[in-house]
Amino acid sequence: MSPWHIVSAFAAALLFSTAVSTADSVSPRERLRINNEWRFMKSDQPGNAANLSYANLKAWILPTGNPFLNNPARRSPAPAEQFTDAISYAQPDFDDSGWRALDLPHDWGIEGPFTSEGRGGTGRLPFYGIAWYRKKLAIPAADAGKSIFLDVDGAMSYAAVWINGQLAGGWPYGYASWRVDLTPYVKPGGVNQIAIRLDNPSNSSRWYPGGGIYRNIWLVKTSPVHVAQWGTYLTTPKVSRSSASVHLRVTVDNDSTRGSNVAISTQIFPLIAGSNRTGPLAATIAPVSLRVPPRSNASFEADAVIANPNLWGPVPQQKPNLYLAITTLKSGSRTVDRYETVFGVRSLKFDPNEGFFINGEHIKLNGVCDHHDLGALGSAVNYRALQRQMEMLVEMGTNAIRTSHNPPTPELLELADRMGLMVMDETFDCWLRGKTPNDYSRIFADWHEQDTRMLVRRDRNHPSVIMWSIGNEVGEQGQGAAGAAVAKELSDIVHEEDPTRPTTSAMNSARADSPFPAMIDTAGLNYQGAGNRGAPPQYPVFHQNFPAKFVFGSETASTISSRGEYVFPVAEGTGAVAGPETGEDTTSHQMSSYDLYFPPWATSPDKEFAAQERYPFVGGEFVWTGWDYLGEPTPFDSSRSSYFGIIDLAGFKKDRFYIYQAQWRPDLPIAHILPHWNWPERIGLKDADGKAVQTPVHVYTSGDEAELFLNGRSLGRKKKEQFQYRIRWDEVVYEPGELKVVAYKRGKQWATDTVRTTGEPSKLQLEPDRATIAGDGSDLSFITLSVTDQAGLTVPRAKNLIHFSISGPGEIVATDNGDATDFTVFPSKDRNAFNGLALVIVKAKRGQTGSITVSAISEGLKDASTQITVRR
Ligand code: GAL
Repeated sequence: MSPWHIVSAFAAALLFSTAVSTADSVSPRERLRINNEWRFMKSDQPGNAANLSYANLKAWILPTGNPFLNNPARRSPAPAEQFTDAISYAQPDFDDSGWRALDLPHDWGIEGPFTSEGRGGTGRLPFYGIAWYRKKLAIPAADAGKSIFLDVDGAMSYAAVWINGQLAGGWPYGYASWRVDLTPYVKPGGVNQIAIRLDNPSNSSRWYPGGGIYRNIWLVKTSPVHVAQWGTYLTTPKVSRSSASVHLRVTVDNDSTRGSNVAISTQIFPLIAGSNRTGPLAATIAPVSLRVPPRSNASFEADAVIANPNLWGPVPQQKPNLYLAITTLKSGSRTVDRYETVFGVRSLKFDPNEGFFINGEHIKLNGVCDHHDLGALGSAVNYRALQRQMEMLVEMGTNAIRTSHNPPTPELLELADRMGLMVMDETFDCWLRGKTPNDYSRIFADWHEQDTRMLVRRDRNHPSVIMWSIGNEVGEQGQGAAGAAVAKELSDIVHEEDPTRPTTSAMNSARADSPFPAMIDTAGLNYQGAGNRGAPPQYPVFHQNFPAKFVFGSETASTISSRGEYVFPVAEGTGAVAGPETGEDTTSHQMSSYDLYFPPWATSPDKEFAAQERYPFVGGEFVWTGWDYLGEPTPFDSSRSSYFGIIDLAGFKKDRFYIYQAQWRPDLPIAHILPHWNWPERIGLKDADGKAVQTPVHVYTSGDEAELFLNGRSLGRKKKEQFQYRIRWDEVVYEPGELKVVAYKRGKQWATDTVRTTGEPSKLQLEPDRATIAGDGSDLSFITLSVTDQAGLTVPRAKNLIHFSISGPGEIVATDNGDATDFTVFPSKDRNAFNGLALVIVKAKRGQTGSITVSAISEGLKDASTQITVRR
């Protein structure tokens, strides 16, 4: 159940407990998730003669975006004519019983198969093409006279919506959330046929975009006079521990042909952390009358004060306290709408010299960039999978996420609000100058304003959002005044929708003396901040050129590694550009996990940490990336998924996790040794000069000193020097046995870690992240399989083939292992372990309860099984 549902359910209860419930006091607003029981066909109708290209449908699609165009002259009038081409896939009487039955969210590409042809950028999966989704909707006769909307959180891409055979609207950008007004077409008291066509071009993305209705989809019913889509906007202009002012704007739509007077009131309640309950009333905005003209809208603004507010702030320093505003519209004694807004009270300061402050406290942005896919589950949104990603990031010490390079799913922001993660919310990867032939540049001219306003209106009540990014590494950076003019236009649009947060753009090539950076509020630097490609660090250059601008690393590091792979010899210092002699295993297409290798534009964690420390005015960084993602498999284009992640695609921690955790959670006692200690081929190995080869041992620790022991012998106690973030024993000569590190902090023992040479693979182990899940058809258990030796130690190079099976009320949705070169399709129940580990993802069947058993077998190894309880 999403938090939104929890809140809704509770708020309904609140209504019943505070008022005498009469028909008049119940809001007609309904928001129904309509994800279940769709029919799917991955093609157009054979022999279909109609031209359904976007260019041909555009006149009917563009009006859907009209509410997001401020200048009436830019709006598109609805065509006088219906789109008349008869397309049987859109007709109510078309027999779709032979189509595949499925539930949304759905990503048609993730099932594969992988292809070895073409470029690896988009993950080698078939995400492109045309598809239709159909569903029958029963709309009761009692809904006559209501406004009825279809709200789509995201569909990839170029969506066109037919209802009862008529083209009602659509939206091209696959990452946008949008609404189509179904009111003129629905038949209350009957069965209504929805048909959605998607046309997802190839060569449209630099990473795996997925394909399909991959986010949630809703039917919204309201009275004709109602709070507009994303029609509330709450800000907190003055915040202190003792009091906060809340400013509220409500926009009310009147879809009827008669003017209407409504009384608007708002009540504000604290949400009790970690529960579904609200606390006692915190503030009230008394009813005020608003006249809403026919077929138009009107806005109302008011202020309230919350005494002793519970502030929202990032963990671990602060608490993510939230409030719920319930806005009620009444016509006489009749409630015509009741609209809930979750928001937070906090103050932000972006100081050019001191860095970032929230609620008066200085906090460094310890951020990561992430793409939207959920690994083996593809782009289809899953609340638990997203929560798992974010939980692991919090465990690492992450306090901010950049939604690279597009609007996120709404659930990401709900989770960020509740978990205390800050968000840099981004619109686009390109503007008019494209990066791939069929990307957003094709529609930028027509849609940039709608897509920008959409994002800000949708997301501006989320306290987690601290900054708006209008674009990533856009080609316009290098276009002088012309490029800067586009930046200004986008930045101005954002300011119109939300003057409370700064704009930024992630700049990899704009120089400090070029016109581009002057147009945005904060200077987000990709890679160039710490210095790259032989150029000096640009953090101080931007700081000097823009003394009034906050400067930060909007994208940093881009270190590449494969979990558990180590390539020798090991680079010195803060690392090297990856190549056949530096970090790459050109046979297996794996990258060394010494965390010292990166593409030419990028760097290591160590070098970025040093730059952040040298220039304390820098507000923090967003590392590329928190999690591995599908596509962009730099430097081995033949692979399926990235090497950039700190966490691999399956959710297993790479070594890098601990260098960030040590830096970002300095109070957590940790020590982490790399590499593993199973190197039989290095016993007695000599180099060309007859010298024993070295197997360097590196330690990541939040301590400041450490002593390493090999089979009980000390290899020396070493200090982390200034601007050093790892302790290295590079001269170690391998011998099997035990490596142990004892870390110290301020002279006292602080943390230890031990790595042992293991025996041969002997048994399997299964460990679920959660042993009880809900039978709601979407909750998941992520089960880790380990290949262990006789003593139960995970064998670090084991690649055994595992077969998974399941019994009881559940299904295996996907398996993975984090190996970027593994072309076994994700739904497969057979999966090789990769360096000792594999993952199996299990879902309960919708509406069922009981006990699921998941088993794993592998030739020659003792098998394993585990139980998952399914609750209501
Ligand atoms: C950046 C870009 C990212 C990703 C990254 C890989 O330049 O913004 O999207 O491609 O490089 O290092």
